Amino acid sequence: MHQKIGNSSAMSLGLSSTETGLVSKGRASAGAALPGSQDWISLLAKSLPTEHTYKARIEGRIPADLRGTLYRNGPGIFERGGVRKKSLLDGDGMIQALDFEDGGVRYRNRFVRTEKFVEEEKSGRFMNGTWSTRAPGGFLANLGVGVKSQAGVTTLVRDGKLLAFDEINPPYALDPSSLKTEGQYQVEAGKPSFDYKAHTKIDGKTGDWILFGTNFGRHMTLDHLVVDKGGKIKAKGSLRSPRSTYLHDFFVTERYIIYLLHPVKFSPLPMLLGMRSIMDCLRWDASLGNLVIVVDKDGKDKPVILEAPAAFMWHSLNAYERGDTIVAEFVGYDEPDHFIGLDPAFKAVMVGKSGNDKFPGKLRRYAIDLRARTLRQEIVADAHYEFPITDPRVQCHASRFAHLTYQHHKGWFHDGIARVDMKTGEQARFGFGAKHFVGEPIFAPSGGREGQGWLLAQVLSGETNKSFVAIFDAENVASGPVAKVMMEHHVPFSFHGWWQQA
Ligand SMILES: [Fe+2]
Repeated sequence: MHQKIGNSSAMSLGLSSTETGLVSKGRASAGAALPGSQDWISLLAKSLPTEHTYKARIEGRIPADLRGTLYRNGPGIFERGGVRKKSLLDGDGMIQALDFEDGGVRYRNRFVRTEKFVEEEKSGRFMNGTWSTRAPGGFLANLGVGVKSQAGVTTLVRDGKLLAFDEINPPYALDPSSLKTEGQYQVEAGKPSFDYKAHTKIDGKTGDWILFGTNFGRHMTLDHLVVDKGGKIKAKGSLRSPRSTYLHDFFVTERYIIYLLHPVKFSPLPMLLGMRSIMDCLRWDASLGNLVIVVDKDGKDKPVILEAPAAFMWHSLNAYERGDTIVAEFVGYDEPDHFIGLDPAFKAVMVGKSGNDKFPGKLRRYAIDLRARTLRQEIVADAHYEFPITDPRVQCHASRFAHLTYQHHKGWFHDGIARVDMKTGEQARFGFGAKHFVGEPIFAPSGGREGQGWLLAQVLSGETNKSFVAIFDAENVASGPVAKVMMEHHVPFSFHGWWQQA
């Protein structure tokens, strides 16, 4: 396996102009600095209550064909009235928009005006439970009330709207230009919605939009919806899940939906009784192994259920059909100790500790033979990866390249970008070095080849305590960024994004 590995390098400076707005009435306080050599990591969990608008300073040269808007979504407020969220994966959704124009890059961040955000902004305190943190007031305040959407996980442009998803339905719609929240968006107009998960897929060739959800009644169901480019419902399906679990992402091919049911046991009763948050109702039991379910998009054929070794999946890379075989690629952990169990890193960072994150995210491949009803797992790359991204032009179809975050050392908080050739195993990597956190690289296609384009990754620097967006030539990752768009402030942990070509 050949690896190209690059390092951080200085860039020439450009000019910037700024204008800054304040919106949040000062009610959301920023998290306190935390002691220790890893202080800067606490910036990932530090609120950014101010809504900014400014022309960003550029280092290097923005590619001439990179014209459009990079949207990102992630939590922006972690505490109100002295109450702090219990996990890094929890906070009010904040959209960032970076408009790449001929005159430079305009930066904006705006909170999604969810019902929850509006009422808590008014009161200056948390009033609602969210998925890692119960509402203040003990079990009586949480008894049977469930949780409210923060619309703070993923974002995409569809139907002329910028949509912001939580994992509680439905998504919120914003105006893609003004970033003004317009209200909740009905995917299936006039029909009750199921609980859509944050991750959806858009078929790179047909433009179909595929959504899924897990819903709980007497049993957990797995539900999906296929929406064509015109917004018409093309197919749907629902099946009873053989396991009650928590899922975040899935796989889609031309004809099939694939669910990876990892052995996370979810018992909602303590949550319904107001005793625990959803996250605290999750338990990892590796002895159960994974169940992999293949269903056809029309939901008519009997599902195929196969077993695989236990591996926790946050995110899939892609899936496609090769004859009777389905290839499904993803990042998976032998154990999700950074998320579930004793002192997980995602909780520890909220109180200034490092916590557990011993198990790396390995790049894996399932080869599912539908005729023989067999599944084979292959470890494509055994290091520390997350946020796998495929070229969107080949989503749901045969693909070759994975773009991911990467960690040179142990631990979940990644400091580099990698591109992996899934056919040869060849890797190109670039590391920003110590005291840097690198988020999901968003792919902006350019040219005609798969993998030809630009990668846009937001980086938090513990040296400057500010963030920037690094732009890489996707086919030359090891050379480092061709340009950086500099933020005037830090940006907390931002999950996912979307590139909208002008
Ligand atoms: Fe995600």
